[in-house]
Amino acid sequence: MVKKSTGINIKPNSLIYPYFVVTGENIRRKIKSFPGVYRLSIDKLLKDIGQIASLGLNKILLFGIPDRKDPPGSGAYSKDNIVSSAVRKIKEIFPNLVVMTDVCLCAYTTHGHCGILKNRRSSFVVRRSSKNKNKIIDSKATLKALSKMALSHAEAGTDYIAPSAMAKKQVSAIRKALDKNGFRKTKILGYSAKFASNFYGPFRNAAHSKPKFGDRSGYQLPSGDRRLALKEIENDIKEGADIVMVKPALSYLDIIREAKTKFRKPLAAYNTSGEYAFVKYGARSGLWDERKMVFEIMTSIKRAGADFIITYHAKDIARWLREK
Ligand code: PBG
Ligand code: ZN
Repeated sequence: MVKKSTGINIKPNSLIYPYFVVTGENIRRKIKSFPGVYRLSIDKLLKDIGQIASLGLNKILLFGIPDRKDPPGSGAYSKDNIVSSAVRKIKEIFPNLVVMTDVCLCAYTTHGHCGILKNRRSSFVVRRSSKNKNKIIDSKATLKALSKMALSHAEAGTDYIAPSAMAKKQVSAIRKALDKNGFRKTKILGYSAKFASNFYGPFRNAAHSKPKFGDRSGYQLPSGDRRLALKEIENDIKEGADIVMVKPALSYLDIIREAKTKFRKPLAAYNTSGEYAFVKYGARSGLWDERKMVFEIMTSIKRAGADFIITYHAKDIARWLREK
C-alpha cells in the first residue's frame, strides 16, 4: 500500500489576482456574467489592493479598459494610458506588491483583435479563407506598439510585463526594447502557450475585447496541438521570458505537466474567466460547494506542475485560508 499524502498546499503567494482598471473615480462596476469581479477606477482599486494585501496576497495582474478605442489601439501606449497611471499610484502605496501588467491591444482596438491589422480588407480575408487568417496581423507595427506599451508600463514601475497578444517574437521584441531603455530589471511573464479557447467569455465582457469579425485562431494555439504548445514555451524561454504560462489551465493540465518536466523556468497557469464562471454558477445552483470545488481545482493545477496560478478566486481563497 502506498502511503496517502495530502502533499499540496495552496499558498497566497503562489496566487496572482487579476484586476480590471478603468478611468474615472469612485467606480466599482459589475461585469455581465462575471460574478464577483468588477471594473474599478484607480481609487477603488487601491482600496481593494489594501484588502487583498492584508489577506496575504502579494501579486496582481492588471488589465486596462480604455474610454476610447481606435484601429491601432493607441490608448494602450499613449502617455496618459490607464494602466501606467494605475501602476504609478499602486507602487507609491504598495511598493512591495508584485505588479504584472497585461500587454495586448485587443481592449484598445475598435476591431477587437490583439494586434494592428494589415489593411482594411483584412476582414474579408478572415471570412474568406481560414488559411489566410494569420496574415491579418501586421507583425512589425504590432511589435512596435506592444514594445511602446511595455516601455510605458516599465517607466511607471511595473515588475512584470505580461504580453498576451500571441504576436510572433513578442517576448524578444519587448525584452530588447526594455534593455535598450534601461529597464533590465523589468521582467517578462510570457503567455507562452495561449490556446484559442472557449473559456475566455466573461473576460471579453470585462474588457470589451471580443473580436468584431473572425476569431483569434490565426494567432492563438489549436487546442489539440501538444507539440506546438511546448515549442511555443521553448521559444518564449529562448526569447527571454522569466516566467512562462499555460492558458487556460483545466483543459490543459497535461501541457502544464509536460512543461514542468521539460523546462526549468517558473511556470504559471491561467485559471481563466470561463473556468471561474463554471464554479460560480454551479455553486449558485447548488450543484457543489464553492470552497471545496475551488480547492480541488487549485490542487489539481498545482499537482500538474504550476508554480503560480492566475485566478479570480484568489481573494476568496486567501479569505478561506484565514478561516481555516
Ligand atoms: C487577450 C486576453 C484574453 C484573456 C487575457 N488576455 C482572452 C482573449 O484572447 O480574448 C483571457 C483571460 C480570461 O478569460 O480570464 N489578450
Ligand atoms: Zn489580446
